[in-house]
Amino acid sequence: MTNTSKPLAAPAHVSAIAPYQAGKPIEELAREFGLDPAGIVKLASNENPLGMPQSARAAMLAAAESLARYPDPNGFDLKAALAARYEVPMNWITLGNGSNDILEIAALALLEPGTSAVYAQHSFAVYRLATQARGARHIVVPAKDYGHDLNAMFDAIADDTRLLFIANPNNPTGTFVPGELVAAFLERVHAAHGDRVTVVLDEAYNEYLEPQFRFDSTALVRRYPNLIVSRTFSKAYGLAGLRVGFAVAQPTLTDLLNRVRQPFNVNTLAQAAAVAALGDAAYLEQAYTSNKAGKAQLCEAFDRLKLRYVPSYGNFVLVHVGDAPRINLALLKRGVIVRPVAGDGLPEWLRVSIGLPQENARFIDALTAILSE
Ligand SMILES: Cc1ncc(COP(=O)(O)O)c(C=O)c1O
Repeated sequence: MTNTSKPLAAPAHVSAIAPYQAGKPIEELAREFGLDPAGIVKLASNENPLGMPQSARAAMLAAAESLARYPDPNGFDLKAALAARYEVPMNWITLGNGSNDILEIAALALLEPGTSAVYAQHSFAVYRLATQARGARHIVVPAKDYGHDLNAMFDAIADDTRLLFIANPNNPTGTFVPGELVAAFLERVHAAHGDRVTVVLDEAYNEYLEPQFRFDSTALVRRYPNLIVSRTFSKAYGLAGLRVGFAVAQPTLTDLLNRVRQPFNVNTLAQAAAVAALGDAAYLEQAYTSNKAGKAQLCEAFDRLKLRYVPSYGNFVLVHVGDAPRINLALLKRGVIVRPVAGDGLPEWLRVSIGLPQENARFIDALTAILSE
């Protein structure tokens, strides 16, 4: 047979994409180092260490009866529950296969070659991926104190800018922009650019905010037709493996998002579990309380070890360790998985997700031992 192979004719902007680096799965580490998976602690993907809510498990088991059928393409029950919770009409809500899907749907709806997206240095990696996948230009705005510099982001908006991402709190740095600054920024963007620039306010870690920092982003959606607020069930609601997130935006924008999403992008089990989790105030409270205690546990240890860290508003802490590749490898050998963040422009740092007290202690003990070697 003659070899007629030609180079794959992928667009250059696709070939140029550096794939997303996920946290290392427990089973992979167990295979690599011959470790017992049961003894491995994973603090690498900002997951909820409490395990999924029992209420969601029960709802999922009941929903399993109907798995021979396609999911509800419009996610009626989940949208109804979200509409009631956030006091918006159902046609203001878009469901996503995780909030990652929402970010990509927004890019698909609004970006194309010849346009650009603005986002901050050291912000969530998917903003870059979603922008590049559309063949759009990215405008990366230098971070200020590891967080978003909204004035610089405003100044960076170009004539071809269609999308601007804000992660609040931000991943991987854990920084937070107060509500009044977000509101002032949205006012400025809308006054200068009208609906030409859509802002995605990505609030994946919102539920971990202390009460004094919470603000009503849905009220901002009511005011600004160019705003998408994105949330997820992956973090405080404990459903990362099911993949469900949502966006709240005015109907014109929501209609656009719905045109480009997959018809059945949120599966039956995820829809049922999310409705149950949304109503499970006790689980959410426990997730918040456990996270707050775990954050204090980690930060006390970092203080003791004289390590710099960025004060975090999420369920993880970014800590400066210097030789991050060496420390990370030594942690892996001790069965502790955290997240190197060199790919986010932070080569001397590690991001540690907040676990249960005993998981945090395993990490702290391992780190203490490594630093004293
Ligand atoms: C800032 C931010 N946004 C969105 C996501 C996407 O999460 P998911 O797709 O699980 O909702 C993450 C996940 O780590 C994140 O950190």
